[in-house]
Amino acid sequence: MKKIFFNKLGVITISAVLLLALGGWSANSASVAGTKKAKKPILIEGAMPIEVQNFAKKLQNVKEEKSGKFEFYKGTLDHYPVIVVKTGKGMENAAAATAVAIERYKPIAIINQGTAGGHDPKLHVADIVLGEKTVHLASFKTEIKGEGQGVDTTQWKPMDLMASEGSGSSSDAEKIRYYDADQDLLSAANAVKDQYTNGKVVEGTIGSADIWNNELDRIKYFHENFGTSAEEMEGFSEAQIANEYNIPFLDIRVLSNNKTNDGAYNPNTAGPCQDYVYNVVKKYISTKK
Ligand code: 5AD
Repeated sequence: MKKIFFNKLGVITISAVLLLALGGWSANSASVAGTKKAKKPILIEGAMPIEVQNFAKKLQNVKEEKSGKFEFYKGTLDHYPVIVVKTGKGMENAAAATAVAIERYKPIAIINQGTAGGHDPKLHVADIVLGEKTVHLASFKTEIKGEGQGVDTTQWKPMDLMASEGSGSSSDAEKIRYYDADQDLLSAANAVKDQYTNGKVVEGTIGSADIWNNELDRIKYFHENFGTSAEEMEGFSEAQIANEYNIPFLDIRVLSNNKTNDGAYNPNTAGPCQDYVYNVVKKYISTKK
């Protein structure tokens, strides 16, 4: 009897130990799963193939994915997930690619980079502008003018499309909207600027629109009234979407041309800019570990 009793107790004890062990293991694996949760990637955006290929080649373990015409290169940098996206040119492609990437990959931060045209005569081809601010260069309400009264773009009023949910007729919509860069991304970019040897790296305002301005008076107008250092066709729309999803954002642009000082177009500036942005990402990652 005694033996059976002990045997029974033994069985009970073993079951209990097993149950506890299993319970402990599953709780443990849950916490392991919790701590090993996949890191959120950093998203690097570029419009044209020459603005993404160099960066994508530097990533480890690259897998390519597509959504519509947007191309994503998913890889790692210093064991940290980084995704490069080729958005295509212009504000619409840039905004849509950003929203798709956010929904698909939940990035922790977004850097847009690529080429731009200079608005500041003190900046030269190959210099880099860190977009401390981005601004829209085609969001305006024109003056009321009758037939034959002409067109005067200098009289157009800025229009802030995010000012209200209304029709945009209220006066609070008549202001220039700027998106500020994320301070941590900007600090990382400033911390490695000496590693860029092709030109200087400065902070400034980057303007965006589906327009390539070649009129010096127009360029001067934006430089003086909007504070722009450079123009391109994607940054503001990406900053806007990043802001709507509350994701840190920075626009980094290399001057491939500058009409204000006869700086001729040089697309080869895009490669070294990506080398620099690679260093920015490395620095940013090191602060997140
Ligand atoms: N004006 C507008 N966009 C420019 N780009 C380079 N230089 C300029 C410029 N002066 C970039 C845009 C777009 C492509 C035409 O190159 O961001 O993607």
